[in-house]
Amino acid sequence: MANEIKAKITQLTSLPTIPLVITKLIVIMKKENPSIDEFVDVIKHDQSITSKIVSIANSPFFGYPGRINSLEQAVLMLGFDLIKSISLSVSRFTIFPIPYVTLKKMWSHSFKVADLSSFLYRKITGKNSCICFLSGLLHDIGRAILLNIKSSDHSADILHELYKLKADELLKSETEIFQCNHTEAGKWFLEKLFFPEEIVAPIYYHHYYDRFLGYNIPYKDIVQSIYLAEGLIDFIKPDSLNDGQWTENHLALLKENNIFESDLKEIKEGFLTTIDTANNFFD
Ligand SMILES: [Fe+2]
Ligand SMILES: [Fe+2]
Repeated sequence: MANEIKAKITQLTSLPTIPLVITKLIVIMKKENPSIDEFVDVIKHDQSITSKIVSIANSPFFGYPGRINSLEQAVLMLGFDLIKSISLSVSRFTIFPIPYVTLKKMWSHSFKVADLSSFLYRKITGKNSCICFLSGLLHDIGRAILLNIKSSDHSADILHELYKLKADELLKSETEIFQCNHTEAGKWFLEKLFFPEEIVAPIYYHHYYDRFLGYNIPYKDIVQSIYLAEGLIDFIKPDSLNDGQWTENHLALLKENNIFESDLKEIKEGFLTTIDTANNFFD
Protein backbone atom coordinates (compact mmCIF):
# COMPACT_ATOMS: atom_id res chain seq x y z
CA MET A 1 0.00 0.00 0.00
CA ALA A 2 2.82 2.45 0.90
CA ASN A 3 4.45 1.58 -2.43
CA GLU A 4 1.18 2.37 -4.21
CA ILE A 5 1.08 5.85 -2.61
CA LYS A 6 4.75 6.43 -3.45
CA ALA A 7 4.06 5.47 -7.08
CA LYS A 8 1.12 7.91 -7.22
CA ILE A 9 3.23 10.72 -5.75
CA THR A 10 6.18 10.19 -8.08
CA GLN A 11 3.85 10.31 -11.07
CA LEU A 12 2.82 13.87 -10.21
CA THR A 13 4.75 16.52 -12.10
CA SER A 14 3.15 19.63 -10.61
CA LEU A 15 0.57 20.73 -8.10
CA PRO A 16 -2.34 23.10 -8.58
CA THR A 17 -2.18 26.43 -6.82
CA ILE A 18 -4.84 28.61 -5.22
CA PRO A 19 -6.82 30.91 -7.57
CA LEU A 20 -5.76 34.02 -5.64
CA VAL A 21 -2.16 33.67 -6.85
CA ILE A 22 -3.16 33.20 -10.48
CA THR A 23 -5.44 36.24 -10.31
CA LYS A 24 -2.53 38.36 -9.03
CA LEU A 25 -0.25 37.09 -11.82
CA ILE A 26 -2.86 37.85 -14.50
CA VAL A 27 -3.26 41.40 -13.19
CA ILE A 28 0.52 41.92 -13.55
CA MET A 29 0.58 40.39 -17.04
CA LYS A 30 -2.17 42.71 -18.24
CA LYS A 31 0.04 45.73 -17.53
CA GLU A 32 1.73 47.35 -20.50
CA ASN A 33 5.27 46.63 -19.30
CA PRO A 34 5.05 43.94 -16.63
CA SER A 35 8.24 43.62 -14.62
CA ILE A 36 9.85 40.30 -13.77
CA ASP A 37 10.53 41.50 -10.20
CA GLU A 38 6.84 42.15 -9.59
CA PHE A 39 6.05 38.74 -11.02
CA VAL A 40 8.64 36.94 -8.88
CA ASP A 41 7.38 38.78 -5.82
CA VAL A 42 4.02 37.01 -6.27
CA ILE A 43 5.53 33.64 -7.20
CA LYS A 44 7.69 33.52 -4.08
CA HIS A 45 4.50 33.27 -1.98
CA ASP A 46 3.45 30.14 -3.83
CA GLN A 47 4.86 26.65 -3.24
CA SER A 48 3.22 25.07 -6.33
CA ILE A 49 4.46 27.53 -8.96
CA THR A 50 7.88 27.87 -7.34
CA SER A 51 8.36 24.08 -7.23
CA LYS A 52 7.37 23.82 -10.90
CA ILE A 53 9.81 26.57 -11.98
CA VAL A 54 12.73 25.15 -9.98
CA SER A 55 11.98 21.60 -11.18
CA ILE A 56 12.07 22.72 -14.84
CA ALA A 57 15.37 24.56 -14.26
CA ASN A 58 16.72 21.30 -12.79
CA SER A 59 15.46 19.08 -15.60
CA PRO A 60 18.19 17.28 -17.60
CA PHE A 61 17.02 19.23 -20.68
CA PHE A 62 18.77 22.38 -19.39
CA GLY A 63 21.92 20.51 -18.40
CA TYR A 64 21.99 21.27 -14.64
CA PRO A 65 19.98 18.47 -12.99
CA GLY A 66 20.12 18.69 -9.19
CA ARG A 67 22.11 21.94 -9.19
CA ILE A 68 19.60 24.81 -9.19
CA ASN A 69 18.79 25.48 -5.54
CA SER A 70 17.04 28.85 -5.42
CA LEU A 71 14.13 30.59 -7.13
CA GLU A 72 16.46 33.47 -8.10
CA GLN A 73 18.82 31.10 -9.94
CA ALA A 74 15.93 29.37 -11.73
CA VAL A 75 14.41 32.69 -12.86
CA LEU A 76 17.75 33.93 -14.23
CA MET A 77 18.22 30.71 -16.13
CA LEU A 78 14.76 30.36 -17.65
CA GLY A 79 13.94 34.00 -18.49
CA PHE A 80 10.70 35.96 -18.14
CA ASP A 81 8.79 34.45 -21.08
CA LEU A 82 9.24 30.89 -19.89
CA ILE A 83 8.51 31.85 -16.28
CA LYS A 84 5.18 33.37 -17.40
CA SER A 85 4.16 30.26 -19.37
CA ILE A 86 5.15 27.88 -16.56
CA SER A 87 3.23 29.93 -13.98
CA LEU A 88 0.05 29.84 -16.02
CA SER A 89 0.42 26.13 -16.73
CA VAL A 90 0.06 25.49 -12.98
CA SER A 91 -3.32 27.24 -12.93
CA ARG A 92 -5.38 24.16 -13.76
CA PHE A 93 -8.71 23.97 -12.03
CA THR A 94 -8.76 21.65 -9.03
CA ILE A 95 -11.11 21.40 -6.13
CA PHE A 96 -9.16 20.67 -2.99
CA PRO A 97 -11.13 18.70 -0.39
CA ILE A 98 -10.76 21.37 2.31
CA PRO A 99 -12.25 24.89 2.62
CA TYR A 100 -10.55 27.64 0.62
CA VAL A 101 -9.90 29.68 3.76
CA THR A 102 -7.86 26.80 5.20
CA LEU A 103 -5.94 26.42 1.94
CA LYS A 104 -4.99 30.11 2.02
CA LYS A 105 -3.79 29.69 5.61
CA MET A 106 -1.71 26.70 4.54
CA TRP A 107 -0.07 28.69 1.72
CA SER A 108 0.48 31.62 4.05
CA HIS A 109 2.10 29.35 6.67
CA SER A 110 4.63 28.11 4.10
CA PHE A 111 5.59 31.69 3.21
CA LYS A 112 5.95 32.66 6.88
CA VAL A 113 8.22 29.67 7.57
CA ALA A 114 10.31 30.55 4.49
CA ASP A 115 10.69 34.14 5.68
CA LEU A 116 11.44 33.39 9.35
CA SER A 117 13.73 30.42 8.67
CA SER A 118 15.82 32.42 6.20
CA PHE A 119 16.09 35.25 8.76
CA LEU A 120 17.31 32.74 11.39
CA TYR A 121 19.68 31.11 8.90
CA ARG A 122 21.28 34.49 8.13
CA LYS A 123 21.53 35.34 11.82
CA ILE A 124 23.09 31.99 12.76
CA THR A 125 25.42 31.42 9.80
CA GLY A 126 25.91 34.89 8.31
CA LYS A 127 25.39 33.35 4.85
CA ASN A 128 23.04 34.14 1.97
CA SER A 129 19.67 32.54 2.71
CA CYS A 130 18.13 31.97 -0.77
CA ILE A 131 18.45 28.18 -0.45
CA CYS A 132 16.90 28.20 3.01
CA PHE A 133 14.02 30.39 1.76
CA LEU A 134 13.21 27.89 -1.01
CA SER A 135 13.41 24.89 1.32
CA GLY A 136 11.26 26.75 3.88
CA LEU A 137 8.67 27.66 1.25
CA LEU A 138 8.43 24.01 0.18
CA HIS A 139 8.75 22.47 3.67
CA ASP A 140 5.07 21.40 3.82
CA ILE A 141 4.59 20.71 0.11
CA GLY A 142 3.85 17.13 1.16
CA ARG A 143 0.57 18.36 2.68
CA ALA A 144 -0.58 19.77 -0.67
CA ILE A 145 0.53 16.53 -2.35
CA LEU A 146 -1.46 14.37 0.06
CA LEU A 147 -4.56 16.50 -0.54
CA ASN A 148 -4.04 16.16 -4.26
CA ILE A 149 -3.95 12.36 -4.11
CA LYS A 150 -6.50 12.18 -1.28
CA SER A 151 -7.74 8.75 -0.38
CA SER A 152 -11.28 8.30 -1.68
CA ASP A 153 -12.05 6.36 1.50
CA HIS A 154 -11.84 9.50 3.61
CA SER A 155 -14.33 12.31 3.81
CA ALA A 156 -13.52 15.99 3.54
CA ASP A 157 -14.30 16.30 7.26
CA ILE A 158 -11.54 13.89 8.24
CA LEU A 159 -9.06 15.63 5.93
CA HIS A 160 -10.06 18.99 7.35
CA GLU A 161 -9.53 17.69 10.90
CA LEU A 162 -5.87 17.09 10.00
CA TYR A 163 -5.40 20.86 9.86
CA LYS A 164 -6.00 21.14 13.60
CA LEU A 165 -3.15 18.75 14.41
CA LYS A 166 0.52 19.49 14.99
CA ALA A 167 3.86 17.68 15.01
CA ASP A 168 3.78 13.97 15.98
CA GLU A 169 -0.01 13.78 16.18
CA LEU A 170 -0.29 15.09 12.63
CA LEU A 171 2.38 12.75 11.25
CA LYS A 172 0.70 9.76 12.94
CA SER A 173 -2.76 10.62 11.54
CA GLU A 174 -1.38 11.21 8.05
CA THR A 175 0.27 7.79 8.11
CA GLU A 176 -3.02 6.17 9.19
CA ILE A 177 -4.90 7.85 6.34
CA PHE A 178 -2.33 7.90 3.52
CA GLN A 179 0.25 5.27 4.57
CA CYS A 180 2.90 8.00 4.56
CA ASN A 181 3.35 11.41 6.18
CA HIS A 182 3.93 14.80 4.52
CA THR A 183 7.72 14.79 5.05
CA GLU A 184 8.00 11.53 3.07
CA ALA A 185 5.53 12.72 0.41
CA GLY A 186 7.51 15.96 -0.08
CA LYS A 187 10.82 14.09 -0.34
CA TRP A 188 9.55 11.55 -2.92
CA PHE A 189 7.92 14.25 -5.05
CA LEU A 190 10.89 16.63 -5.14
CA GLU A 191 13.52 13.92 -5.62
CA LYS A 192 11.69 12.70 -8.70
CA LEU A 193 11.79 16.28 -10.04
CA PHE A 194 15.62 16.46 -9.66
CA PHE A 195 15.61 18.88 -6.71
CA PRO A 196 19.03 19.16 -5.03
CA GLU A 197 19.62 17.50 -1.67
CA GLU A 198 20.06 20.85 0.13
CA ILE A 199 16.37 21.53 -0.57
CA VAL A 200 15.01 18.00 -0.06
CA ALA A 201 16.87 16.95 3.12
CA PRO A 202 15.54 19.85 5.27
CA ILE A 203 12.00 19.09 4.08
CA TYR A 204 12.42 15.46 5.12
CA TYR A 205 13.87 16.31 8.57
CA HIS A 206 11.86 19.43 9.46
CA HIS A 207 9.80 17.70 12.19
CA TYR A 208 12.61 15.51 13.51
CA TYR A 209 15.63 17.76 13.99
CA ASP A 210 15.75 17.23 17.77
CA ARG A 211 15.82 13.46 17.30
CA PHE A 212 19.01 13.63 15.27
CA LEU A 213 21.12 15.76 17.62
CA GLY A 214 24.60 14.31 17.59
CA TYR A 215 24.05 12.69 14.19
CA ASN A 216 25.60 13.98 11.02
CA ILE A 217 22.43 14.92 9.16
CA PRO A 218 22.84 16.67 5.80
CA TYR A 219 22.46 20.46 5.57
CA LYS A 220 22.08 20.75 9.34
CA ASP A 221 22.06 24.60 9.32
CA ILE A 222 19.06 24.73 7.01
CA VAL A 223 17.24 21.91 8.83
CA GLN A 224 17.64 23.62 12.21
CA SER A 225 16.54 27.02 10.83
CA ILE A 226 13.28 25.55 9.51
CA TYR A 227 12.75 23.50 12.67
CA LEU A 228 13.31 26.61 14.83
CA ALA A 229 11.05 28.77 12.63
CA GLU A 230 8.16 26.31 13.01
CA GLY A 231 8.63 26.14 16.78
CA LEU A 232 8.88 29.93 17.10
CA ILE A 233 5.72 30.48 15.06
CA ASP A 234 3.89 28.16 17.45
CA PHE A 235 5.37 30.10 20.37
CA ILE A 236 4.51 33.55 18.98
CA LYS A 237 1.12 32.64 17.43
CA PRO A 238 -0.03 29.34 18.94
CA ASP A 239 -3.53 29.64 17.45
CA SER A 240 -2.35 30.06 13.84
CA LEU A 241 -2.46 27.21 11.33
CA ASN A 242 0.97 25.82 12.08
CA ASP A 243 2.14 22.23 12.24
CA GLY A 244 5.22 22.86 14.38
CA GLN A 245 5.21 22.68 18.17
CA TRP A 246 7.28 24.80 20.55
CA THR A 247 9.27 22.64 22.99
CA GLU A 248 12.15 22.93 25.46
CA ASN A 249 14.37 21.52 22.69
CA HIS A 250 13.72 24.64 20.61
CA LEU A 251 14.75 26.87 23.49
CA ALA A 252 17.94 24.87 24.06
CA LEU A 253 18.78 24.99 20.36
CA LEU A 254 18.30 28.77 20.24
CA LYS A 255 20.71 29.18 23.18
CA GLU A 256 23.19 26.83 21.54
CA ASN A 257 23.16 29.23 18.57
CA ASN A 258 23.63 32.29 20.80
CA ILE A 259 20.06 33.51 20.41
CA PHE A 260 18.84 34.79 23.77
CA GLU A 261 15.78 36.54 25.27
CA SER A 262 16.78 39.98 23.92
CA ASP A 263 17.12 38.56 20.37
CA LEU A 264 13.73 36.87 20.70
CA LYS A 265 12.11 40.27 21.16
CA GLU A 266 13.67 41.50 17.90
CA ILE A 267 12.71 38.25 16.10
CA LYS A 268 9.13 38.53 17.33
CA GLU A 269 8.80 42.13 16.13
CA GLY A 270 10.23 41.24 12.71
CA PHE A 271 7.93 38.27 12.44
CA LEU A 272 4.82 40.32 13.26
CA THR A 273 5.69 42.47 10.22
CA THR A 274 5.96 39.30 8.12
CA ILE A 275 2.51 38.24 9.35
CA ASP A 276 1.08 41.60 8.20
CA THR A 277 2.74 41.25 4.78
CA ALA A 278 1.48 37.69 4.37
CA ASN A 279 -2.03 38.61 5.55
CA ASN A 280 -2.17 41.50 3.05
CA PHE A 281 -1.12 39.15 0.26
CA PHE A 282 -3.42 36.24 1.10
CA ASP A 283 -6.51 38.24 2.10
FE1 LIG B 1 5.39 20.08 8.44
FE1 LIG C 1 4.87 23.65 8.60
